[in-house]
Amino acid sequence: MSKKPLAVLTGAAGFIGSHLAEALLDRGWDVRGVDALTDHNGRERKTESWAALGMRSGFTGVEVDLRDADLNPIVEGAAAVLHLAALPGVRSSWGDAFREYSTTNIEATARLLEVCRGRGVPRFVYASSSSVYGNAQRFPVRETDPTNPISPYGVSKLAGEHLVRLYGTAYGLHTASLRFFTVYGPRQRPDMAFHRFIRGVLSGEPCTIFGDGEQTRDFTFVDDVVAACLGALEHGAPGAVYNIGGGSRVTLKEVIAIIERHAGRKGEWIFGATEKGDPRHTGADTSLARAEIEYAPKVPLEEGLRREVEWMSGQLSREAT
Ligand code: NAD
Ligand code: UGA
Repeated sequence: MSKKPLAVLTGAAGFIGSHLAEALLDRGWDVRGVDALTDHNGRERKTESWAALGMRSGFTGVEVDLRDADLNPIVEGAAAVLHLAALPGVRSSWGDAFREYSTTNIEATARLLEVCRGRGVPRFVYASSSSVYGNAQRFPVRETDPTNPISPYGVSKLAGEHLVRLYGTAYGLHTASLRFFTVYGPRQRPDMAFHRFIRGVLSGEPCTIFGDGEQTRDFTFVDDVVAACLGALEHGAPGAVYNIGGGSRVTLKEVIAIIERHAGRKGEWIFGATEKGDPRHTGADTSLARAEIEYAPKVPLEEGLRREVEWMSGQLSREAT
């Protein structure tokens, strides 16, 4: 029997989850990865990450849907649960799709919290989102500023965050919610801007910019998000909510210039309509995370984009063979 502490990580096959699983293993945790390997945003990328994690000592993969599986055996023996599984897209959360956002992001979170409470799980870390703010009234936004989501996805993530808070206050579950700001890097989801832009520029396909390209995001490199999760696990105050931004708030147009430079070629850009649910700007005040969980983003946008371009080049070569 392993003497290492056990972390249960939901969404372990996903973009951020697969990086976090690797980091937890490197840091001496056993990891029980939980994922339904859903078809959303490409199943293949998830099965590849899942297979790679399965090769690592200390990792056990459990392929279940959090919405209907018996979750008791899943959290059994866990020193911590890190809940990243979700339906993540902002723009696709309108209309009939919301039902699935609701069952995945809200109901499954409630089910998981309930078994964590019942089993006395010591720590619970929740992947929240900058989308809970909507169009913030000032920048950089603080955790105490109003939450006013403008997409159904944002509503679902905020509901999840409230459930996490309730289980902390009502039952004493030690929780932390991390509001990630647009995360990028190798293995980024194929529906996200950088993935689409880099793929398009490298392969000579046109890319669509939603709106005028002057919108800003506080883009955050995935390794910095992983470090924040580890910090929250080890040092987070009970019930805390932390902004996790990369400190690189730039316009999409600025991003495009950097991508073209790293790729060594110009892209073909089409300006489309603004998408409903997209905030115009995001920008995080991370002073609370800096003070309480030793959060200090280390990867500037130039370097992070260089790494994502490099990863995408390898990806395109693999796809061509
Ligand atoms: P992702 O889609 O790559 O990963 C999510 C994983 O959850 C997938 O592997 C999926 O198969 C799994 N999953 C979905 N429904 C499930 C279910 N019912 N049961 C079990 N597993 C299920 O997304 P990501 O970008 O890695 O996002 C991870 C988390 O971070 C999400 O909670 C998302 O809301 C949050 N977040 C992401 C970003 C970002 O920029 N990527 C920003 C803010 C917050
Ligand atoms: C990202 C994640 O996808 C969400 O899961 C997450 O919750 C959210 O960050 C967050 O910070 O909370 P988003 O900011 O929309 O959402 O990330 P991208 O898909 O990378 O989009 C960034 C910007 O590029 C948006 O303004 C979007 O409209 C634009 N975009 C995106 C395009 O112009 N073209 C595209 O093809 C895709």
